[in-house]
Amino acid sequence: SNHVDEKLSQECQDLLLSLPREKGWRTSYLYKFKGFWCQPKQIEAILAFQNHFQVKDTDAIVASIPKSGTTWLKALVFSISNRDKHPILTKCQILHSKLSHPLLVSNPHDLVPFFEYKLYANTDGDHDRLLDLSGLPDPRLFATHIPFVALQEPIKKSGCKIVYICRNPLDTFISSWIYTNKLMKERGLPPLPLEEAFEMYCKGVVGFGPFWEHMLGYWNESRERPKKVLFLKYEEMREDHEGFHLRKLANFLGCPFSLEEEKSGVVEGIAKLCSFEKLKDLEVNKSGSGAIMTFENKHLFRKGQVGDWVNYLSPSMVEKLVTVMDDKLGGSGLEF
Ligand code: A3P
Repeated sequence: SNHVDEKLSQECQDLLLSLPREKGWRTSYLYKFKGFWCQPKQIEAILAFQNHFQVKDTDAIVASIPKSGTTWLKALVFSISNRDKHPILTKCQILHSKLSHPLLVSNPHDLVPFFEYKLYANTDGDHDRLLDLSGLPDPRLFATHIPFVALQEPIKKSGCKIVYICRNPLDTFISSWIYTNKLMKERGLPPLPLEEAFEMYCKGVVGFGPFWEHMLGYWNESRERPKKVLFLKYEEMREDHEGFHLRKLANFLGCPFSLEEEKSGVVEGIAKLCSFEKLKDLEVNKSGSGAIMTFENKHLFRKGQVGDWVNYLSPSMVEKLVTVMDDKLGGSGLEF
């Protein structure tokens, strides 16, 4: 069967023939590349990224497995890192100011681009089509779903900072399944049944999975090198109404909030600007598209709740996934 995409480079096509594969969620196959499950087009982009990206000590990288809160973390990292250039509206200014902010007119994925979906995507193996990232202003902000083990060695050795967001697998699974089926519908394809997706997820077959290996890679690194990797949890951030995580992020990124900023409400301003309710209602996120590949931006904002899995998973499914989680994450110190 012609399972290999003709648009892929010969190098990538040859590689695919040597890799284990399984039926994918929304593509014919996922291939096991460097220990994780990946789509052919992304493998090509990751190869280009690994060969060409030149890290700088001032870079920051947002990392996650899909549907863990990446969009939110991108918004937070962007607004915190760029608040000199793009000031944050505070309470007392809101009524009067004409200040705009990039997050009000752009989707977070356009401001903090993924290596594998955007910066190194669609080159068809042609190196002349690579973007020149050296001229981007510091701090350069990037994102990736690539597991820690498969990042470039120079990234691991450099002073660049990595912020990881992790979400409860039960909610991440439901968010992934619903998102997948929205994309299937957008393309006129039949939905993937819940039970089928669930079996694949529990076996680890999901984009950039197994999820436990993805989480543990960044988790272990964050414990060994806390200045290199900041490990955040979606649920804890959702419960935090005091801005504790925003301060942690700002400190980690090397731009702590000043006393003056604290007093004038910059922390609250960032929390509000990046909130689910605020972003979901923006025109760019309601009717725009193309932040992730060609998809509609609105699919990136669904409910933003903790524990929505309860509305979808049967008791036996919960038991099964919890058993997988205990089995794979037990003893690591990572808990949900
Ligand atoms: P749900 O499907 O549970 O609603 P990602 O950004 O990694 O694709 O993750 C998507 C999940 O994050 C979705 O979860 C989405 O609704 C939620 N989300 C998007 N923006 C958010 C925000 N600003 N704050 C909190 N959650 C957000």
